[in-house]
Amino acid sequence: MCGIVGYIGQNNAIPVVIEGLQRLEYRGYDSCGIALLNVTGINLEKVTGKVNKLQGALAQQQTSSPVAIGHTRWATHGPPTVDNAHPHVSQDGKVALVHNGIIENYKILRDELENSGYEFSSDTDTEVVVALISQAYHGNLESAVREALSHVIGAYGLAIIHADEPEKIVCTRKGAPLIMAVGENEYFVASDVAAILKYSKDVIYLDNEEIGVLTPDGIKTYSSDENQIAKKIHKITFNLEEVEKGGFEHFMLKEIFSQPQTIHDAMRGRLLPEEGNAHLGGLNHMIGSILHADQRYFTACGTSWHAALIGEMMFEQFARLPSEVEYASEFRYREPLVDTKSIVFAISQSGETADTLAAIQEAKNRDATVLGICNVVGSSIARETEAGVYIHAGPEIGVASTKAFTSQVTVLSLLTLKLARLMGMSDADGLEIAQAMQRLPEDVEWLLKQADQIAEIAKLYADASNFLYLGRGVNFPVALEGALKLKEISYIHAEGYPAAEMKHGPIALIDRSMPIVAIAPQDKTYDKIISNIEEVKARHGRVIALATQGDTRIKDVADHVLYVPPALSFTAPILNVIPLQLLSYYIAVERGCNVDQPRNLAKSVTVE
Ligand code: M6R
Repeated sequence: MCGIVGYIGQNNAIPVVIEGLQRLEYRGYDSCGIALLNVTGINLEKVTGKVNKLQGALAQQQTSSPVAIGHTRWATHGPPTVDNAHPHVSQDGKVALVHNGIIENYKILRDELENSGYEFSSDTDTEVVVALISQAYHGNLESAVREALSHVIGAYGLAIIHADEPEKIVCTRKGAPLIMAVGENEYFVASDVAAILKYSKDVIYLDNEEIGVLTPDGIKTYSSDENQIAKKIHKITFNLEEVEKGGFEHFMLKEIFSQPQTIHDAMRGRLLPEEGNAHLGGLNHMIGSILHADQRYFTACGTSWHAALIGEMMFEQFARLPSEVEYASEFRYREPLVDTKSIVFAISQSGETADTLAAIQEAKNRDATVLGICNVVGSSIARETEAGVYIHAGPEIGVASTKAFTSQVTVLSLLTLKLARLMGMSDADGLEIAQAMQRLPEDVEWLLKQADQIAEIAKLYADASNFLYLGRGVNFPVALEGALKLKEISYIHAEGYPAAEMKHGPIALIDRSMPIVAIAPQDKTYDKIISNIEEVKARHGRVIALATQGDTRIKDVADHVLYVPPALSFTAPILNVIPLQLLSYYIAVERGCNVDQPRNLAKSVTVE
């Protein structure tokens, strides 16, 4: 949830760390800070608010340093104040560290440390780690870190410096992301590759409890049992442009508009349009296990959970394979009925979501086979799962997930197609589906051309306080996703419902002030949804309908119609979500909200 950047090398660390923090602000943005290290000791600067403010404060100092660690925070323990901002420094002023994660036993540790006379200066859980390292320090920082962490229960990504070892950064992780990177006589540590991409594409992924030691001479890595280990250097394949706005006003808009390409990328080399089939290299050896499993579960959070709901419906409808979906946060605690004959799909954009990681662990403890559908290469979930598929959406910076959702659904559609063919789907049906999937990028292109019309509609509804989204079948999760997008970035309360459920309760809320978004494709439930829209109109509700291109009847009942190219139920969710993403975006912009960094949220939720 927070962002960490550290630098050691021949250049001034400050601009590198500041720029890195700016690139990580999407991960947390309520306060930030930097600790500089040189022979005179540690120099600390912290502010509440954004990294620009920190940059301004540092500019006034006119200082420089070859070593620095920085942090941008999403508050968990203690409000966003300067005292609670990272880096935290030990009482003697010699240890400074930045932390991402949660120290679960911090209260016990803090009481013990206070009883022994240690004085804390923040409300954070993190400060106990600084205190423990300070007490364990006898001339070697990595040994002190190892000793301190043996008392800690929780999740952490940490970068640490010590005034007595001015040419060293020590870093480690457990359950929170952290990478190291190799440059030209300079070395980096960061919680996200985006932070250091400008300087290096050569990345080392730290595994849980490994310790990295960065000096001006290079990087050494040690296992938890203190042995030095050789780590592979991975080449990052995406470019700096992918983590920049590229002329768009917001990352979210850029990401919405990139979907023709990202959907294409998710299908590249996998969709077999001539055969009416799909091929997923990462799961090839698992297809038999998926088909013959006793249980198939999908587990995920937020937008990824909506993709999971679509996956479940497609597995059942097209491949006739019974499946279940469970919120990752619930999966762990409800004693799931999974065992060695179960397949669990964990779906995650970031690959770092703590709830999803905990669900994976639970499934593994019960001997299930866990497969990942993930965006971030080398992420914890990618590494914790037995096999999987990358969605290849590229870095998603906007906190509200858009392109990752459509890529997740694309991959789930490919997998469904593959399984369905093995379960007896005919050539004709396979070909029809594969060809509809092949058309997706161009259909999405067409939808994006409606952006101006959607922006105009958004102006009419930007002052609403509540919205209701209705959809049926595979479009019910799309309604949920539309509602989530709206509430995340515009702070308008919105709910998604299966359209027919409206009359069982939510209809009581309908009046002129509560707009309804109805997903009404010309499929087998079309007449029923039209009736639902009529029921809304009879109560003076205003309706924005998503309808199939060419549908003229709907104009008589809805106030506004957004047309979508004709789609199979296989491809409908991907197309229908695009206008909903745009509607949320333009409403949020109209309301003057910070679209890319909505309040209280962070891109990847690395705490349970
Ligand atoms: O990285 P993940 O896909 O695991 O993240 C799951 C949710 O935290 C995420 O989808 C969240 O709901 C987004 N803010 C949705 O826009």
